[in-house]
Amino acid sequence: MTISIQYVDPKTKTPLRKDDTAYYSETGSVYPIVNQIPRFVDSSQNYTQSFSLQWNKFSKTQIDDTDQKQSETRFFATTNWQPEELAGKNILEAGSGAGRFTRVILEKTSAHLWSFDYSEAVEANWQNNSKIAGGRLHLFQASIYEIPLPDSSFDKVFCFGVLQHTPNFEESVKSLIKYAKIGAEIVVDFYPIKGFWTKIHAKYLLRPLTKRMSHQTLLSIIERNIDSLMMIFDFLVKVRLGVLTRFLPIVDLRTIPSTLDKQKRREWAILDTFDMFSPEYDNPQRIKDVAAMFERHGAKVTFAGFVKSSAGTSAVVRGVRET
Ligand SMILES: C[S@@+](CC[C@H](N)C(=O)[O-])C[C@H]1O[C@@H](n2cnc3c(N)ncnc32)[C@H](O)[C@@H]1O
Repeated sequence: MTISIQYVDPKTKTPLRKDDTAYYSETGSVYPIVNQIPRFVDSSQNYTQSFSLQWNKFSKTQIDDTDQKQSETRFFATTNWQPEELAGKNILEAGSGAGRFTRVILEKTSAHLWSFDYSEAVEANWQNNSKIAGGRLHLFQASIYEIPLPDSSFDKVFCFGVLQHTPNFEESVKSLIKYAKIGAEIVVDFYPIKGFWTKIHAKYLLRPLTKRMSHQTLLSIIERNIDSLMMIFDFLVKVRLGVLTRFLPIVDLRTIPSTLDKQKRREWAILDTFDMFSPEYDNPQRIKDVAAMFERHGAKVTFAGFVKSSAGTSAVVRGVRET
């Protein structure tokens, strides 16, 4: 049976009173509801403004459609969950961006989904998914460090592509585990450190500069140069010099679904290149270190490694909350 979960004050964990415009805490805090989304943080000041821009500009680019099902493939491969086992369950999604995985859960399962992001990406997610949710989507704006929900509430917790972009990876893992029920599963994927060469890459060489640029300027530079960069990248791969592409300031085009037409492939390349260069934080981790974080914070690791699927390869840790 699904138990209904109520928002609580993110700081004090006490119950909130609600009217049509806001949630109110006993201590006087007011959390407004804007465009039907409860807001527990002010994103105009926080470090995720690149994501606010990115996910609202490219709100539909990575949502599955008839041309590609990358999100669905990645979601089920990464979690190893079956749609049937999620029926009626309460799931927590941390850092949902424009809602590519939110969409998969709502479309492919009958689970109840609590989903949040620290940025204004929640606007894009709501536009993309509220109509198909049938009341099963509880979307809110909040930080992974102060989730406005009671601890030990969820049957499943997942967080994809987010942890490397938070200021403290381990604190983020610790926080996620707290929201799973005892015996419930937590699954994360993240940018891995594969060896000393991981950071010998155009991304890490240029980021000290690009992350400080105005996001609009960075985006314009990428848009102006994407065609020639794509041409050089494709040429290097064709002549079997793919190893050199790491020195090009563009996303690895081999990670983009091969089924896309030329225009969509270009759009995806601009989005992912902006996503490489603009975030405030980009802290890749060794898989074994993330597994150790799970163990330190009360979750028994059930899998730690690379998951390969037709959607690509992800570094994944899965665990079950024990304490
Ligand atoms: C690369 S995007 C991934 C979005 C989505 N999971 C996907 O795979 O499409 C990373 C997301 O993490 C969010 N994020 C970063 N720090 C966060 C935090 N402290 N709490 C919640 N979300 C956060 C960003 O706003 C951004 O939308």
